[in-house]
Amino acid sequence: MKVLVVGGGGREHALCWKLAQSPRVEKVFVAPGNAGCAAVAERVDIQPTQLDALAGFVKANDIDFTVVGPEAPLCIGLVDRLERLGHKAFGPRREAARLEGSKSYAKRLCRTHNIPSPDFKEFRDIEAARRYLERAGHYPLVVKADGLAAGKGVAVCQNEAEAEAHLRACLEENSFGEAGETVLIEEFVKGTEMSVMVVTDGRTLVELEPARDYKAAGEGNVGPNTGGMGSVSPAPVDAKLLHRIEEKVLVPTVHALATEGSPFGGLLYAGLMLTPAGPRVLEFNVRFGDPETQPTLARLKSDLFELLWAAASGELHQVEVEWDPRPAVTVVLTSGGYPGSYRKGYEITGIEAAEAHEDVVVFHAGTEMRAGRLVTNGGRVLGVTALGEDVADARRKAYAAVKEISFEGMVYRTDIGAELE
Ligand code: GLY
Repeated sequence: MKVLVVGGGGREHALCWKLAQSPRVEKVFVAPGNAGCAAVAERVDIQPTQLDALAGFVKANDIDFTVVGPEAPLCIGLVDRLERLGHKAFGPRREAARLEGSKSYAKRLCRTHNIPSPDFKEFRDIEAARRYLERAGHYPLVVKADGLAAGKGVAVCQNEAEAEAHLRACLEENSFGEAGETVLIEEFVKGTEMSVMVVTDGRTLVELEPARDYKAAGEGNVGPNTGGMGSVSPAPVDAKLLHRIEEKVLVPTVHALATEGSPFGGLLYAGLMLTPAGPRVLEFNVRFGDPETQPTLARLKSDLFELLWAAASGELHQVEVEWDPRPAVTVVLTSGGYPGSYRKGYEITGIEAAEAHEDVVVFHAGTEMRAGRLVTNGGRVLGVTALGEDVADARRKAYAAVKEISFEGMVYRTDIGAELE
């Protein structure tokens, strides 16, 4: 089989790496990928949202299967487009991808189908939103842009000034474009955050082992939110709790989408708050989490191609998934300044030495080859991933490998997985 992976981050490198291990996969292509993907896949110079070019490539090269990494192409209908060509793809169609593409759609779905989620109201008019805030009169409250806003659309507001600022950014200053034309004001719920990922064909759900994501830029979980500074798989989660999440959130969500005429096939990622009253959905994503996918796939013993192909074929009930019992830790190496502004183009050294360490794989995210040199090309640059006998061992191995790597301004957290030792 010839497989095309769409996207170019650490998640896509991990997907290419694992798919290339399948005896059923003859060749992996990646559009556009990154420098690391080139070791396991042929890179194609097409961006994830160039649907015409992707469809043309799939047709011209007899691609058998496409795996879509990021949300943007899903939300504009890449899978629908490929399916119209009679081509198989992993990921939800456009209508079902609204679960991530429109927070208002996701919240209404939860409300209609009794899926536990914080209470909300939606607004297109700033005066109406202000009147609502005055009446509500208590903080914190969460103000969210409805659409995809590159992770910057959500603000947890501690007071009126903060809420007003985010409302204005969305509804007056147009900071998020169309994504901010509708705003949600949501109840703030307290608890422990966690996320779960399931592969589904719309009927059967295959849960991936839970992974922990470290979103804050700074050690001890302080500082601005990032795409993720590291991840550990498995995250310690009580089996009863997982069962409850499946019963109260995951199954009802997949069922709700089917009954609304938008059946969901692909990867469903539920971001949850575990409150004293039970799990509450904070958000849905319709694609693999990044960096969570990196330690997760490092532990997957089963054939990833078989799993994703079965999901896209409606045959997931036939698949068993096996995991390496050893935990995996991923430490993300970032460019200085991330998640704010940062410079690109610094030479990266030491990856070969890092990968010579036992049980270590280095997934590339923002990397590129320029004039024969490997250089930084993004905020998140590499995900150094190690398997160990326990979390302490995996951490030791990951950080020993990190020490081999250097580039100007390299920043990473030294406490990924520390609380799990
Ligand atoms: N790591 C969080 C996400 O993928 O959205």
